[in-house]
Amino acid sequence: MRRPPAPRAFLLAVVLGLGMLGTPGGGPGPVAGVGPLPECRLDDILTEPRGYDDWAITQVDWILTLGRDYRPPDLVNVRDAGVRGSGLIRKVAFDDLEAMAAAAEKNGTPLVSWSAFRGYNQQLKLFNGYAGWNGERYTNFDGAVTFSARPGHSEHQTGLTIDFVGVGDTGLTSNWEVTPTGGWMARNAWKYGWLMSYPQGKKGVTCYRYEPWHYRYVGRDLAAKIHDSGLTIREYLWAHYTQVDPACVALPPPPLQTPGTPRSCALAAPTPTPEPQSTAASTTEPTGAPSSLPPAETPAASVPGSPTSGPAATPSTAPTGVLGQALPIGVGVVLAVAALLAFWLWRSSGRARRRW
Ligand code: DAL
Ligand code: ZN
Repeated sequence: MRRPPAPRAFLLAVVLGLGMLGTPGGGPGPVAGVGPLPECRLDDILTEPRGYDDWAITQVDWILTLGRDYRPPDLVNVRDAGVRGSGLIRKVAFDDLEAMAAAAEKNGTPLVSWSAFRGYNQQLKLFNGYAGWNGERYTNFDGAVTFSARPGHSEHQTGLTIDFVGVGDTGLTSNWEVTPTGGWMARNAWKYGWLMSYPQGKKGVTCYRYEPWHYRYVGRDLAAKIHDSGLTIREYLWAHYTQVDPACVALPPPPLQTPGTPRSCALAAPTPTPEPQSTAASTTEPTGAPSSLPPAETPAASVPGSPTSGPAATPSTAPTGVLGQALPIGVGVVLAVAALLAFWLWRSSGRARRRW
């Protein structure tokens, strides 16, 4: 005998459940990183995630690279957001940049962009200049990597980073945080989604010297969490979002001066983790680490990107749906109960009909 059709409640529970599994969440859900923060070592591992939609949680550091072809598709001029100077920034950061610039202006400390987006080749030229590439070898590689990212490894290539100065400043200075504009940024930028990537005394964990002018946009929600945690962006992203195979990270690094082809070490699938914790101790800058002014980064007068501005390859994208991050336990329990209830109703109604 044919069973009666499933009741609407059962179908609804199934449809609802499937829909929730496939729908992107309201923001990046926390997933497990690889565990302990990897020590500062030079490597060329493709960062993961690095889809253009994963902008908030994409990590670059001494180890992880965006690759040569990463160039965000939505770059706009910082001047349109009310920031003085020049440079390009991703559209996803525009509204908060505009709000921050307006607030800074109102405070009497207008923001000026010294350098914003830098493409791979632009960073290559910059780094080679600092590192003293003479056509055969580097004469100052070890010094340069403490304040300049190798190509592919710069947050400037994400299109989410600006080196700020104040009106009238003639360069990037290590005392910027105690100037009116730099001080305002240090106190307020996080409220607009911007964080200082390389704070003072954190070279042991960020791998770079103190850069009070260098701010990266991660969005207001994540910026507030990172700010409250007391961690640096690098520590926080490795702990909660970066998806690179730990075994791969354990491989010996390639020769320093040959960037070569980046390796891909993506984890097979993200794993759930609890909400970010509040604090953790950070390794401090080694005693005797240079505190003097690093060489200024190139001004952004001719910023619009690298010489190779052809179509960028689309980087692979980590899952962004709830399924790809972590199905919240509460939602799973509610769905299971609903499905059981619906199934019980369906069975009961079947028996009742058979009795009739
Ligand atoms: N100065 C920072 C580290 C960069 O080059 O991206
Ligand atoms: Zn910078």
